[in-house]
Amino acid sequence: MKCTKCGSKAAVQMRQHKLALCAQDFLAWLPEQVERFIRKYRMFTRSDRILAAVSGGKDSLSLWDILWRLGYQVDGLYIGLGIDGGIAYSQKSQQLCEKFAAERGLRLLVVDVAETYGQPIPAMAERTLRGRDKPCAVCGLTKRHIMNRVARDEGYDVLVTGHNLDDEAATLLGNTLTWSVGHLVRQGPLLEGDGAGLVRKAKPLCRIYEREMAAYALLRGIEYIYEECPYAEGAKSLYYKELLNRLEADRPGAKLSFYLSFLEAKENGLFALQPQEVRERMHACPTCGQPTTAPGECAFCRMIQKVALENRT
Ligand code: AMP
Ligand code: FES
Ligand code: ZN
Repeated sequence: MKCTKCGSKAAVQMRQHKLALCAQDFLAWLPEQVERFIRKYRMFTRSDRILAAVSGGKDSLSLWDILWRLGYQVDGLYIGLGIDGGIAYSQKSQQLCEKFAAERGLRLLVVDVAETYGQPIPAMAERTLRGRDKPCAVCGLTKRHIMNRVARDEGYDVLVTGHNLDDEAATLLGNTLTWSVGHLVRQGPLLEGDGAGLVRKAKPLCRIYEREMAAYALLRGIEYIYEECPYAEGAKSLYYKELLNRLEADRPGAKLSFYLSFLEAKENGLFALQPQEVRERMHACPTCGQPTTAPGECAFCRMIQKVALENRT
Protein backbone atom coordinates (compact mmCIF):
# COMPACT_ATOMS: atom_id res chain seq x y z
CA MET A 1 0.00 0.00 0.00
CA LYS A 2 1.36 3.40 -1.04
CA CYS A 3 0.89 6.85 0.47
CA THR A 4 -1.87 8.67 -1.43
CA LYS A 5 0.08 11.93 -1.13
CA CYS A 6 3.71 11.09 -1.87
CA GLY A 7 3.79 7.48 -3.14
CA SER A 8 6.18 6.18 -0.50
CA LYS A 9 5.28 3.27 1.80
CA ALA A 10 2.00 3.90 3.66
CA ALA A 11 1.99 3.57 7.46
CA VAL A 12 -1.72 4.14 8.10
CA GLN A 13 -4.58 2.99 5.94
CA MET A 14 -7.98 4.59 6.49
CA ARG A 15 -10.62 2.70 4.56
CA GLN A 16 -13.39 5.04 5.69
CA HIS A 17 -11.60 7.97 4.03
CA LYS A 18 -10.23 5.91 1.13
CA LEU A 19 -6.86 7.26 2.16
CA ALA A 20 -3.46 5.73 2.98
CA LEU A 21 -0.62 7.86 4.31
CA CYS A 22 3.05 7.51 5.16
CA ALA A 23 4.13 8.40 8.71
CA GLN A 24 5.21 11.91 7.80
CA ASP A 25 2.07 12.78 5.84
CA PHE A 26 -0.16 11.23 8.49
CA LEU A 27 1.48 13.31 11.24
CA ALA A 28 0.73 16.45 9.20
CA TRP A 29 -2.76 15.35 8.09
CA LEU A 30 -4.22 14.58 11.53
CA PRO A 31 -3.60 18.02 13.10
CA GLU A 32 -4.97 19.63 9.90
CA GLN A 33 -8.18 17.65 10.36
CA VAL A 34 -8.40 18.63 14.03
CA GLU A 35 -7.87 22.28 13.11
CA ARG A 36 -10.68 21.99 10.57
CA PHE A 37 -13.10 20.66 13.21
CA ILE A 38 -12.05 23.30 15.77
CA ARG A 39 -13.08 25.93 13.21
CA LYS A 40 -16.15 24.16 11.90
CA TYR A 41 -17.68 23.84 15.35
CA ARG A 42 -16.27 27.23 16.51
CA MET A 43 -14.62 25.62 19.51
CA PHE A 44 -11.94 28.24 20.31
CA THR A 45 -9.33 30.50 18.75
CA ARG A 46 -5.64 31.17 19.32
CA SER A 47 -6.46 34.02 21.70
CA ASP A 48 -8.37 31.69 24.06
CA ARG A 49 -6.77 30.08 27.10
CA ILE A 50 -7.40 26.35 26.86
CA LEU A 51 -7.30 23.72 29.59
CA ALA A 52 -6.79 20.14 28.37
CA ALA A 53 -7.92 17.41 30.76
CA VAL A 54 -5.26 14.71 30.44
CA SER A 55 -5.57 11.19 31.80
CA GLY A 56 -2.17 9.86 30.66
CA GLY A 57 -3.90 7.89 27.89
CA LYS A 58 -3.18 8.13 24.15
CA ASP A 59 -6.12 10.37 23.25
CA SER A 60 -5.75 13.17 25.74
CA LEU A 61 -1.93 13.35 25.54
CA SER A 62 -2.09 13.33 21.73
CA LEU A 63 -4.72 16.06 21.86
CA TRP A 64 -2.45 18.18 24.04
CA ASP A 65 0.42 17.53 21.61
CA ILE A 66 -1.70 18.46 18.58
CA LEU A 67 -3.02 21.71 20.08
CA TRP A 68 0.49 22.66 21.17
CA ARG A 69 1.87 21.92 17.67
CA LEU A 70 -0.95 23.98 16.16
CA GLY A 71 0.12 26.96 18.30
CA TYR A 72 -2.78 27.13 20.75
CA GLN A 73 -2.28 28.33 24.36
CA VAL A 74 -2.97 25.14 26.20
CA ASP A 75 -2.24 23.96 29.75
CA GLY A 76 -2.97 20.48 31.12
CA LEU A 77 -5.01 19.25 34.05
CA TYR A 78 -4.43 15.85 35.63
CA ILE A 79 -6.84 14.54 38.26
CA GLY A 80 -5.30 12.02 40.68
CA LEU A 81 -8.05 9.48 41.31
CA GLY A 82 -6.06 7.24 43.65
CA ILE A 83 -6.76 4.06 41.67
CA ASP A 84 -4.19 1.33 42.06
CA GLY A 85 -5.77 -1.92 40.84
CA GLY A 86 -2.48 -3.77 41.33
CA ILE A 87 -0.84 -1.83 38.47
CA ALA A 88 -0.33 1.55 40.19
CA TYR A 89 -2.76 2.91 37.59
CA SER A 90 -3.12 6.49 38.83
CA GLN A 91 0.51 6.86 39.86
CA LYS A 92 1.77 5.73 36.45
CA SER A 93 -0.72 7.92 34.60
CA GLN A 94 0.39 10.97 36.57
CA GLN A 95 4.08 10.30 35.90
CA LEU A 96 3.41 10.05 32.17
CA CYS A 97 1.51 13.35 32.16
CA GLU A 98 4.29 15.03 34.11
CA LYS A 99 6.94 13.67 31.78
CA PHE A 100 4.99 14.80 28.72
CA ALA A 101 4.61 18.34 30.12
CA ALA A 102 8.25 18.60 31.24
CA GLU A 103 9.58 17.50 27.84
CA ARG A 104 7.64 20.26 26.10
CA GLY A 105 7.94 22.92 28.81
CA LEU A 106 4.15 22.97 29.26
CA ARG A 107 2.18 23.77 32.42
CA LEU A 108 0.39 20.88 34.14
CA LEU A 109 -2.07 21.46 36.97
CA VAL A 110 -2.62 18.50 39.28
CA VAL A 111 -5.60 17.97 41.56
CA ASP A 112 -5.42 14.99 43.88
CA VAL A 113 -8.86 13.73 44.90
CA ALA A 114 -7.71 12.18 48.20
CA GLU A 115 -5.82 15.34 49.22
CA THR A 116 -8.73 17.59 48.31
CA TYR A 117 -11.70 15.54 49.48
CA GLY A 118 -10.12 13.25 52.08
CA GLN A 119 -10.43 9.98 50.16
CA PRO A 120 -9.41 8.42 46.87
CA ILE A 121 -12.15 7.38 44.41
CA PRO A 122 -12.37 3.67 45.39
CA ALA A 123 -12.92 4.53 49.09
CA MET A 124 -15.43 7.25 48.19
CA ALA A 125 -17.35 4.79 46.04
CA GLU A 126 -17.22 2.11 48.72
CA ARG A 127 -18.79 4.49 51.21
CA THR A 128 -21.54 5.78 48.96
CA LEU A 129 -22.33 2.58 47.07
CA ARG A 130 -21.38 0.02 49.73
CA GLY A 131 -19.81 -2.29 47.18
CA ARG A 132 -23.05 -2.54 45.19
CA ASP A 133 -21.46 -1.16 42.07
CA LYS A 134 -18.16 -0.24 40.47
CA PRO A 135 -16.76 3.22 41.26
CA CYS A 136 -17.12 4.51 37.67
CA ALA A 137 -20.21 6.65 38.31
CA VAL A 138 -18.67 8.29 41.39
CA CYS A 139 -15.45 8.75 39.40
CA GLY A 140 -17.18 10.34 36.40
CA LEU A 141 -19.15 12.70 38.62
CA THR A 142 -16.00 13.73 40.50
CA LYS A 143 -13.93 14.26 37.34
CA ARG A 144 -16.61 16.41 35.72
CA HIS A 145 -16.95 18.48 38.87
CA ILE A 146 -13.20 19.07 39.25
CA MET A 147 -12.60 19.82 35.56
CA ASN A 148 -15.30 22.47 35.59
CA ARG A 149 -14.20 23.96 38.91
CA VAL A 150 -10.53 24.26 37.96
CA ALA A 151 -11.28 25.69 34.50
CA ARG A 152 -13.68 28.22 36.01
CA ASP A 153 -11.50 29.20 39.01
CA GLU A 154 -8.32 29.52 36.95
CA GLY A 155 -10.04 31.63 34.30
CA TYR A 156 -9.73 29.31 31.29
CA ASP A 157 -11.96 30.06 28.29
CA VAL A 158 -12.54 26.45 27.38
CA LEU A 159 -11.99 22.93 28.68
CA VAL A 160 -11.07 20.23 26.16
CA THR A 161 -11.19 16.46 26.61
CA GLY A 162 -9.74 13.64 24.52
CA HIS A 163 -13.02 11.92 23.57
CA ASN A 164 -12.56 10.37 20.12
CA LEU A 165 -15.11 9.18 17.56
CA ASP A 166 -15.31 5.70 19.07
CA ASP A 167 -16.09 7.20 22.49
CA GLU A 168 -18.72 9.52 21.06
CA ALA A 169 -20.35 6.87 18.89
CA ALA A 170 -20.50 4.45 21.84
CA THR A 171 -22.07 7.12 24.07
CA LEU A 172 -24.51 7.94 21.30
CA LEU A 173 -25.49 4.31 20.90
CA GLY A 174 -26.07 4.00 24.65
CA ASN A 175 -28.13 7.19 24.76
CA THR A 176 -30.14 6.11 21.74
CA LEU A 177 -30.92 2.66 23.10
CA THR A 178 -32.58 4.35 26.07
CA TRP A 179 -33.63 7.52 24.23
CA SER A 180 -32.09 9.66 26.93
CA VAL A 181 -33.20 12.93 25.41
CA GLY A 182 -31.54 15.10 28.06
CA HIS A 183 -28.16 13.55 27.24
CA LEU A 184 -28.74 13.48 23.48
CA VAL A 185 -29.59 17.17 23.40
CA ARG A 186 -26.31 18.03 25.12
CA GLN A 187 -24.06 15.57 23.28
CA GLY A 188 -21.92 17.18 20.62
CA PRO A 189 -18.50 18.59 19.73
CA LEU A 190 -19.13 21.76 21.75
CA LEU A 191 -21.13 22.60 24.85
CA GLU A 192 -21.38 26.34 25.41
CA GLY A 193 -20.67 27.73 28.88
CA ASP A 194 -23.25 29.83 30.70
CA GLY A 195 -20.94 32.71 31.56
CA ALA A 196 -21.23 31.80 35.26
CA GLY A 197 -20.78 28.37 36.82
CA LEU A 198 -20.41 26.25 33.73
CA VAL A 199 -17.39 26.53 31.41
CA ARG A 200 -17.40 25.93 27.67
CA LYS A 201 -16.41 22.35 26.80
CA ALA A 202 -15.05 21.04 23.52
CA LYS A 203 -14.04 17.68 22.07
CA PRO A 204 -11.66 18.42 19.19
CA LEU A 205 -11.08 14.69 18.48
CA CYS A 206 -14.76 13.76 18.20
CA ARG A 207 -14.45 12.92 14.49
CA ILE A 208 -11.16 11.02 14.69
CA TYR A 209 -11.19 7.22 14.94
CA GLU A 210 -9.58 5.66 18.03
CA ARG A 211 -7.33 3.64 15.73
CA GLU A 212 -5.97 6.82 14.17
CA MET A 213 -5.30 8.31 17.59
CA ALA A 214 -3.32 5.22 18.57
CA ALA A 215 -1.31 5.52 15.34
CA TYR A 216 -0.65 9.20 16.03
CA ALA A 217 0.62 8.56 19.57
CA LEU A 218 2.81 5.74 18.34
CA LEU A 219 4.31 7.64 15.39
CA ARG A 220 4.92 10.74 17.52
CA GLY A 221 6.62 8.62 20.17
CA ILE A 222 4.25 9.76 22.90
CA GLU A 223 4.58 7.60 26.00
CA TYR A 224 1.12 6.82 27.36
CA ILE A 225 -0.51 4.32 29.68
CA TYR A 226 -1.56 1.24 27.71
CA GLU A 227 -3.68 -0.25 30.46
CA GLU A 228 -7.34 0.65 30.75
CA CYS A 229 -8.61 1.68 34.16
CA PRO A 230 -8.85 -1.57 36.18
CA TYR A 231 -12.56 -0.88 36.76
CA ALA A 232 -13.34 -0.51 33.04
CA GLU A 233 -13.61 -4.25 32.48
CA GLY A 234 -17.14 -5.20 31.54
CA ALA A 235 -18.19 -1.57 31.09
CA LYS A 236 -21.16 -1.03 28.79
CA SER A 237 -19.24 1.52 26.76
CA LEU A 238 -16.65 -1.14 25.83
CA TYR A 239 -19.42 -3.46 24.70
CA TYR A 240 -20.94 -0.72 22.53
CA LYS A 241 -17.52 0.00 21.03
CA GLU A 242 -17.16 -3.64 20.13
CA LEU A 243 -20.59 -3.69 18.47
CA LEU A 244 -19.77 -0.57 16.47
CA ASN A 245 -16.44 -2.06 15.40
CA ARG A 246 -18.25 -5.08 14.00
CA LEU A 247 -20.50 -2.77 12.04
CA GLU A 248 -17.48 -0.78 10.86
CA ALA A 249 -15.69 -3.92 9.67
CA ASP A 250 -18.61 -4.72 7.34
CA ARG A 251 -19.26 -1.14 6.35
CA PRO A 252 -16.22 1.15 6.55
CA GLY A 253 -17.36 4.60 7.62
CA ALA A 254 -20.48 3.37 9.46
CA LYS A 255 -19.25 4.69 12.80
CA LEU A 256 -18.52 8.14 11.45
CA SER A 257 -21.79 8.31 9.57
CA PHE A 258 -23.75 7.24 12.68
CA TYR A 259 -22.27 10.16 14.61
CA LEU A 260 -22.38 12.77 11.83
CA SER A 261 -25.96 11.95 10.85
CA PHE A 262 -26.93 12.43 14.49
CA LEU A 263 -25.31 15.89 14.56
CA GLU A 264 -27.04 16.78 11.32
CA ALA A 265 -30.43 15.53 12.48
CA LYS A 266 -30.05 17.56 15.64
CA GLU A 267 -29.17 20.67 13.65
CA ASN A 268 -32.32 20.08 11.63
CA GLY A 269 -34.43 20.11 14.76
CA LEU A 270 -34.70 16.43 15.64
CA PHE A 271 -35.06 17.45 19.26
CA ALA A 272 -37.45 20.27 20.00
CA LEU A 273 -35.52 21.17 23.15
CA GLN A 274 -32.38 23.20 22.58
CA PRO A 275 -29.44 22.88 25.01
CA GLN A 276 -30.14 26.47 26.07
CA GLU A 277 -33.69 25.59 27.10
CA VAL A 278 -32.47 22.57 29.06
CA ARG A 279 -29.95 24.84 30.73
CA GLU A 280 -32.62 27.37 31.67
CA ARG A 281 -34.44 24.69 33.58
CA MET A 282 -31.34 24.02 35.67
CA HIS A 283 -30.64 25.33 39.17
CA ALA A 284 -27.42 26.48 40.83
CA CYS A 285 -26.22 24.20 43.62
CA PRO A 286 -26.23 26.26 46.85
CA THR A 287 -22.92 24.73 47.95
CA CYS A 288 -20.67 24.72 44.87
CA GLY A 289 -22.60 26.92 42.45
CA GLN A 290 -22.45 24.46 39.56
CA PRO A 291 -25.66 23.83 37.61
CA THR A 292 -27.86 20.88 38.57
CA THR A 293 -31.15 19.54 37.23
CA ALA A 294 -33.14 19.64 40.48
CA PRO A 295 -33.35 22.41 43.10
CA GLY A 296 -31.05 21.85 46.09
CA GLU A 297 -27.54 20.50 46.27
CA CYS A 298 -25.97 18.82 43.24
CA ALA A 299 -25.17 15.09 43.10
CA PHE A 300 -21.47 15.73 43.76
CA CYS A 301 -21.98 17.82 46.90
CA ARG A 302 -24.50 15.30 48.22
CA MET A 303 -21.98 12.53 47.69
CA ILE A 304 -19.20 14.45 49.46
CA GLN A 305 -21.47 15.10 52.45
CA LYS A 306 -22.34 11.45 52.65
CA VAL A 307 -18.65 10.54 52.61
CA ALA A 308 -17.95 13.09 55.37
CA LEU A 309 -20.83 11.79 57.51
CA GLU A 310 -19.68 8.20 57.11
CA ASN A 311 -16.21 9.26 58.18
CA ARG A 312 -17.51 10.61 61.44
CA THR A 313 -19.44 7.47 62.35
P1 AMP B 1 -12.71 8.61 30.00
O1 AMP B 1 -13.94 9.11 30.63
O2 AMP B 1 -11.78 7.90 30.92
O3 AMP B 1 -12.95 7.90 28.69
O4 AMP B 1 -11.89 9.91 29.59
C1 AMP B 1 -12.41 10.86 28.72
C2 AMP B 1 -11.57 12.10 28.78
O5 AMP B 1 -11.64 12.66 30.09
C3 AMP B 1 -10.09 11.89 28.53
O6 AMP B 1 -9.79 11.91 27.16
C4 AMP B 1 -9.48 13.05 29.26
O7 AMP B 1 -9.57 14.22 28.48
C5 AMP B 1 -10.39 13.21 30.47
N1 AMP B 1 -9.86 12.47 31.66
C6 AMP B 1 -10.08 11.17 31.99
N2 AMP B 1 -9.45 10.86 33.14
C7 AMP B 1 -8.81 11.98 33.56
C8 AMP B 1 -7.96 12.30 34.68
N3 AMP B 1 -7.66 11.40 35.62
N4 AMP B 1 -7.48 13.57 34.76
C9 AMP B 1 -7.79 14.48 33.82
N5 AMP B 1 -8.57 14.24 32.76
C10 AMP B 1 -9.07 13.01 32.61
FE1 FES C 1 -12.75 6.28 36.90
FE2 FES C 1 -12.01 3.99 36.05
S1 FES C 1 -11.27 5.94 35.46
S2 FES C 1 -13.37 4.37 37.61
ZN1 ZN D 1 3.40 10.33 2.18
